Amino acid sequence: MPEQAELKRIAEKFQEIFGDCDGVIWLRAPGRVNLIGEHTDYNDGFVLPMATQQEIVLAARQRKGFQARLYSLHYAKGGQFDLKGISSDAENPWINYAQGVTWSLLEAGYEIGGIEAVVGGDVPIGAGLSSSAAVEVAFALAFSHLYDLKIKREELARLCHRAEREFVGLPCGMMDQVSSLLAEEGAALFLDCRSLYYKPIPFESEAVRVVICDTQVRRELTHSAYQERVQECNEAVRLLRRHLPQITHLRDVSGEKLEKFGGELPEAVYRRARHIVSENERVLRAVEALEGEDFEELGRLMDGSHQSLKRDYEVSSRELDLMVDLAREVSGTLGARLTGGGFGGATVNLVASSEIENFKREVSRGYKEATGLSPAIFVSRPAARAGLISGGEDSSP
Ligand code: GLA
Repeated sequence: MPEQAELKRIAEKFQEIFGDCDGVIWLRAPGRVNLIGEHTDYNDGFVLPMATQQEIVLAARQRKGFQARLYSLHYAKGGQFDLKGISSDAENPWINYAQGVTWSLLEAGYEIGGIEAVVGGDVPIGAGLSSSAAVEVAFALAFSHLYDLKIKREELARLCHRAEREFVGLPCGMMDQVSSLLAEEGAALFLDCRSLYYKPIPFESEAVRVVICDTQVRRELTHSAYQERVQECNEAVRLLRRHLPQITHLRDVSGEKLEKFGGELPEAVYRRARHIVSENERVLRAVEALEGEDFEELGRLMDGSHQSLKRDYEVSSRELDLMVDLAREVSGTLGARLTGGGFGGATVNLVASSEIENFKREVSRGYKEATGLSPAIFVSRPAARAGLISGGEDSSP
């Protein structure tokens, strides 16, 4: 649940802009931290994220007509758009997430009208913790409640995903949207991105904590590098199909088959494929480790994931590597890796509960010394999926 102070800040802004808070509904949508399974989602593979206690909070109500009037506390900026003429807003990139979802709902034939809303919350923006998907999910749920659309959560995830891919323009997978909409409190979420089969894996042990370290270095994910990786994976599939005509995604390729035919791929493309194939295996092993509360093994798999992302997939950065190395030096760290798209953003660490304060102090000091930047380091327990905070029944089954 969001802090009272944050709700107050949002309510005051809402009142200031829109006059009063009558008929307002309140929603929260968590960010996510991916424990393991990076860049596998758009390869139809496996992921194991959890929803974070850091979340986007939205106050919204219906507005007569077809205008959307919004304010973002993160950017200290307002903006608006017309539902009958939606087009991307280069001046106000944050609005595109709300616009994208609106567009996606309209495209799917849902009857929606105007909205006025204030967005706040504490998911760090651009840190690889899925603030954008959380904003999309919050708006999708707001429309669903305000216009009584009764959309199932799986469908909402698809609509938000479409917004991100086709409106915002990032050729991503569905991990972020599914995690925010379907994760469960006290559990990580195993997701098969092909079938959308998902299963909460209980993660409530008092022995370890998930610690997130934000490097404070930002990279825009829409950057060509993400798209380049998507293309390289597609290229790997295209070339491997000469020998394996039945495959459609790297998900379908085993380690053994990749070894057998991988020599024919360009070297970089081979390494990209090797990351995806090995990462999918690591996710399945991580699920077993988490189910058996074998945190040493889970930590080792996280370490392996980072090495693979660094060497084979090449999406790490100097700061991410430094943060991981510093974490590895602290006793009580079981695993450390970059989380999210990479090139900047945050790391996720599995740390013995008794060592948390020491971890924060040591990593923070080392990082500051080496970079001059003060990292944000925080613990998150697996949080509940997005939903209403107050103002009505949850009509999204
Ligand atoms: C971003 C995308 C996700 C996923 C990750 C990498 O967060 O939005 O769909 O591809 O990068 O795992």
